[in-house]
Amino acid sequence: MNVLLIGGGGREHALAWKLAQSSMLDELYVVPGNPGTVRHGRNVNIDLKDPRALRQLIIDKRIRMVVVGPEGPLVEGLHDRIAADPQIKDLVTVIGPTASAARLEGSKEFAKEFMLRHNIPTAQFRVFGRDQLPEAVQHIGRMEGPYVIKADGLAQGKGVVIAADRPAAEKALNDMLGGSGLGPAADRVLIEQHLVGVELSAFLITDGEAFKMLPSAKDYKRIGDGDTGPNTGGMGAVSPVPFADKDFMGKVHDRIAVPTVRGLRSEGIPYQGFIFMGLMNVNGEPYVIEYNVRLGDPEAQAILPRLRSDLMDLFEGIATGTLSERHVDVDDRTCATVVLASEGYPGKYRTGMPIVGMEMIKAAHVFQSGTALENDELVTAGGRVLSVTAFGKDIEHAILNAYASASLINFEGKSQRMDIGRDLLRTTSGKAGSSPTVKTGVK
Ligand code: AMP
Ligand code: GLY
Repeated sequence: MNVLLIGGGGREHALAWKLAQSSMLDELYVVPGNPGTVRHGRNVNIDLKDPRALRQLIIDKRIRMVVVGPEGPLVEGLHDRIAADPQIKDLVTVIGPTASAARLEGSKEFAKEFMLRHNIPTAQFRVFGRDQLPEAVQHIGRMEGPYVIKADGLAQGKGVVIAADRPAAEKALNDMLGGSGLGPAADRVLIEQHLVGVELSAFLITDGEAFKMLPSAKDYKRIGDGDTGPNTGGMGAVSPVPFADKDFMGKVHDRIAVPTVRGLRSEGIPYQGFIFMGLMNVNGEPYVIEYNVRLGDPEAQAILPRLRSDLMDLFEGIATGTLSERHVDVDDRTCATVVLASEGYPGKYRTGMPIVGMEMIKAAHVFQSGTALENDELVTAGGRVLSVTAFGKDIEHAILNAYASASLINFEGKSQRMDIGRDLLRTTSGKAGSSPTVKTGVK
């Protein structure tokens, strides 16, 4: 089968690498891909917003499956456009939801209302529109800090403010509801109960009827060690998460995954693809912080190497509505991935720095994201440049192995977090996350 993979980051490199291992795959095309995906398929440069270009590619290359990596094209309706195109709709299966279902990620208000309707544990919340700034400020006045303030729409990681005190919360509300910086994404703003606990991510794949859980992961979103500094796309990940044991994952399955998939079905929202459940472990109880309609980046780089099953087989299960008959077999070992970023990221950074040492890597997978080829030389071309994934018999060894391999690669300005997974070492011995509490947030 010929597959078209959409996206060009480390997650898509990991997806391409995994798909290329399948005997069911004939040709893989990647739009736009990166220098890493070239090893597993052919990069194609078309404008995804041009329906003719996409249609032509699907027809010319006899594509039978379109796998969408990032959320953007899904929220913008790529699936719907393919499904509405009489020339291609019967040719291909899209792995990734329609725009209506992608609102789980594209609209935080939609996601929260959905969770309320289906009794899925999540932080309490209120929603305010642009003409309700005074009411929002009043609401803050009735709460205790810290204050969780979120723009409803996609805001490229800038839409969530955790304000320590009231002046900071009021400023955030003013910036979002009163300002224009975030555009329509902040037309509606949520104020949430602040949950205290340890975060982790759970993943499932569904054909809209059945679903299969995938391995859990924890990512490290802040740029600095000890979770300091600004948010990034993710600076590293570990899978599995030690505190996400059988008991905890049982709760995630029963209280979150089951009602999520059943809820979508009962509301007549067809869904095929991945669901990423961003969770908070509050005293051993899972709460949903957010849904994403895709795999995480860099979580995918830690999860997919652990997946023993053929990913194409799972996708085929989606295409034929027979996912319930497929198996998800997972490697017991731990995977850790460390992101190598450009100095300055997530702010301004330089590009074009030659990357050396890749050929020395023998005991890790290196997935590329912000890279480019210049005169046959691999150079940096983005904020997050590479993710280095290694296995270990436990977390400690996985981390050691990932860092050992990461140290062999160099480019000017290479920066990385040095503490990926370290908090989980303490969790294993029972110290970290030992006494998280829920604050109701309302006085
Ligand atoms: P989101 O984009 O909704 O995932 O939020 C970004 C980050 O803000 C999350 O990864 C959490 O660290 C934090 N966060 C979001 N919602 C809450 C909440 N209700 N309580 C505590 N922290 C939160
Ligand atoms: N690493 C977080 C995300 O992909 O959303």
